[in-house]
Amino acid sequence: MISHNQLDEIAKFVKNYLFETAETSDQEWLKSNPRAAEHRWQHTLNVVANAEQILEGEGATDEDWSIVRAAALLHDVSMFTCDHAVHGQVTADIAADYLENKGFDKSFIQTVTQAVAEHGTDFGDLPPEEQGKQFSWAGKILVEADILDKLGASAVTSALLYLGDQKKLNFEANRELFNGLAYERATFFKDYFWTVSGKKMAQHRYDFFNEYLARLKEEVMECDLPEWKE
Ligand SMILES: [Fe+2]
Ligand SMILES: [Fe+2]
Repeated sequence: MISHNQLDEIAKFVKNYLFETAETSDQEWLKSNPRAAEHRWQHTLNVVANAEQILEGEGATDEDWSIVRAAALLHDVSMFTCDHAVHGQVTADIAADYLENKGFDKSFIQTVTQAVAEHGTDFGDLPPEEQGKQFSWAGKILVEADILDKLGASAVTSALLYLGDQKKLNFEANRELFNGLAYERATFFKDYFWTVSGKKMAQHRYDFFNEYLARLKEEVMECDLPEWKE
């Protein structure tokens, strides 16, 4: 089983890698996102915590905990070094190099890197049920843990922070949250869950997003003249 010290080392490696590569990256979008490395690190920690909740719920073995924790820590390490379409495989290669250097055994490295590569899959061609059949068990947990960060309070907060940056008012947030990318993504991804625990967490978080939107609609008026009820 992977020790807490080894997990700490992986965490430090990932954090440093993200911060260093964001600093030197020539990706255009980073110019308007000066805190992208911190944001990605925050997301990584969220994904680790989500994965742990699923592992707990599924009664996973010590070996599963080791694999999924390592995969969750490493899963987005290449974010600033390559095109998003290939970041799953690029991360898997970086992870393999790192884990080999640290002396982890071959089957552990293989399972971790497979899960990491799988999380980079572009969804859309296959229905969720079929998509799940393409993934290893660890890959499924990682994908679920990653998606969970798009479904609930974390996703709402990210969307609101973005709207706040644009100096939007409440009624505009009301419109844009309902019609925006965050809700669209949450609605699309909410069905890509396969474990009992993952499904439960997904439903809980997506319900929260819907509840939040419903309350916003109820409480926030359009900034025009009022319409009087009879
Ligand atoms: Fe990713
Ligand atoms: Fe991710």
